[in-house]
Amino acid sequence: MIEFEEVSKYYKKKKVLKDVSLNIQNGEFVCLLGLSGCGKTTILKMINKLITPSSGKILIDGKDISKINDIELRRKIGYVIQQTGLFPHMTVKENIELIPKLQKKDKEKIKNKTYELLDMIGLKAEDYLNLYPSQMSGGQQQRIGIARAFANDPDIILMDEPFSALDPITRTNLQDELLEIQDKLKNTIVFVTHDISEAIKLADRICIINEGSIQQYDTPEEILKHPANDFVHNFIGKKRIWESPELIRAEDIMMDNPVTCYDNLQCFKAGAIMADKKIDSIIVINKKREFLGLLDARRALKERNKNLTVGQVLKRHKEKYHLKFTYVSPEESILDVLEKTDENDTYTIPVVDENNKLMGLITKSILFTTLKQKYDESEDDE
Ligand SMILES: Nc1ncnc2c1ncn2[C@@H]1O[C@H](COP(=O)(O)OP(=O)(O)O)[C@@H](O)[C@H]1O
Ligand SMILES: [Mg+2]
Repeated sequence: MIEFEEVSKYYKKKKVLKDVSLNIQNGEFVCLLGLSGCGKTTILKMINKLITPSSGKILIDGKDISKINDIELRRKIGYVIQQTGLFPHMTVKENIELIPKLQKKDKEKIKNKTYELLDMIGLKAEDYLNLYPSQMSGGQQQRIGIARAFANDPDIILMDEPFSALDPITRTNLQDELLEIQDKLKNTIVFVTHDISEAIKLADRICIINEGSIQQYDTPEEILKHPANDFVHNFIGKKRIWESPELIRAEDIMMDNPVTCYDNLQCFKAGAIMADKKIDSIIVINKKREFLGLLDARRALKERNKNLTVGQVLKRHKEKYHLKFTYVSPEESILDVLEKTDENDTYTIPVVDENNKLMGLITKSILFTTLKQKYDESEDDE
């Protein structure tokens, strides 16, 4: 774990970091996000002691890093910057293997690791091992930079806007590859970016910084849904949630007290409730609030004279028409909900948890209102 305890940094009188406290768990992918000059690089470079705090403490796995030898510390930390930092007079192989060789690791192991890493970043080892940086594109060089950072099995990898100079397609590919590598190797990654979309895509948690202080430190989902203050709100922009519609979940948009009836209610009474509430279907539950089905008004009307209970009607219809009652779980996204409305030709979708308990209901009007917001917001931005 990396811990910052009230870390500040002054240059002359200018305070560029103000009481930064934060913790990063092992294996976590954290993005430091903010405008240029807000202090991201300063925070990052403090972790490998390229910059020393003016006050406060930084601990790695509980140890105060000011008491750890610089070289020893950096051995456990990979570092990737925008201008790759590859040595121009060394080949790809020499660049990647430099540190492991200095550490006199086993030759065979080093070689295998190099092949494995090149494979992970999508470069064929035979084609690249003997090239010099100048013989490769910017994207390829950056891939090598990443491979080199991982070569030494570091616990922590620091990345300072590593993709910002790349074209969008290469950037997207490298982001995907980085996520894959981290998923396999489980290193802790601290990644600086000023690009909110990049942070949302990559991070387990995002730390938003402004003028040297932390504004919000939370999951992308929480930041998008509940920006802590005006700065964060403006920074992420209001359209942003729609760029990640998978983060809009059924439980965020459902109504939580839909009209329900018990299965032992007589069907004609259920019909009367629907007429009274002006709804065209009613959710049927049992006393444990478990979801049993959706009874629509037309069916209730048809059966009204037979003195059946709602439960009996549902059962009959299930058998007769092979009805399946569609529902979504609270965590499913609005995209899943829309898909289900499409498949089932209904806009009324109950939200049911893993214990089959009814949580809420999504209706046509909720879906339309939510989708209309997206439309209105895009208009505002033009
Ligand atoms: N060596 C330095 N001397 C004086 N000011 C510095 C120095 N390094 C950085 N700064 C200032 O500290 C602030 C934060 O810088 P930095 O961490 O590089 O920002 P970011 O990486 O977020 O763009 C900036 O205002 C920058 O001008
Ligand atoms: Mg910077």
